[in-house]
Amino acid sequence: MHEEVTHPCIQHKLALIRDVDTGHKMFRELATEITMFVCYEALKNIRIKAVDVETPLATAKCHMIDEDIVVIPILRAGVGMLDGILSLIPSARVGFVGLERDEETAEPSTYYEKMPHQIKNGISIIVDPMLATGGSTVAAIDMLKKQGAKRVVVVCIVTCAEGLQAVEAAHPDVQIYAASIDPELNEKKYIVPGLGDAGDRLYGTI
Ligand code: PRP
Ligand code: URA
Repeated sequence: MHEEVTHPCIQHKLALIRDVDTGHKMFRELATEITMFVCYEALKNIRIKAVDVETPLATAKCHMIDEDIVVIPILRAGVGMLDGILSLIPSARVGFVGLERDEETAEPSTYYEKMPHQIKNGISIIVDPMLATGGSTVAAIDMLKKQGAKRVVVVCIVTCAEGLQAVEAAHPDVQIYAASIDPELNEKKYIVPGLGDAGDRLYGTI
């Protein structure tokens, strides 16, 4: 299952983040803001529990989140989405997966992994701005499932049909949410039109 979250506020910010003239400070701010909007949609079905809250006037029947949520940014660009999702769910735990695509083959290799044990019973939310060939996302989901994760959601900013198909073929149970499904990959396996190299644009390493 995948969903393109096309709210006008997201489309406006996508126009700004894609712009080649947007510098790293604004790029980071936009990544945070877009992440909040997409995650808002991605979290719409999480379990809640009924609680009674005393207002100054009476008892209110309220609801609070009732799930262990673990956010897993894929290093390094995924870290640019961490503030956005943690501002929605401040009590979430955070795990890290370090993956880097080979510039020639686009194959990901793993260089770091640190996961809270709560991934076994909670919801694991992978965040990475770019889901291109899908290789990095599939590798991250493989790692999570090997550690016992049962429910995995992926949130990205830009993806394309090829990447979605690769992830859905390998992990049909995973839900994917994106701000945009772009038309294609180029010969270097970059999303087109995309927004370029998300890690470089976030951290000013261009
Ligand atoms: C980028 C991006 C994803 C991956 C997407 O990371 O942030 O992790 O490429 O490509 P894929 O879907 O084809 O695997 P990159 O490997 O460039 O590392 P970085 O975040 O350190 O810049
Ligand atoms: N990684 C990026 O940062 N951008 C792409 O378009 C593809 C992979």
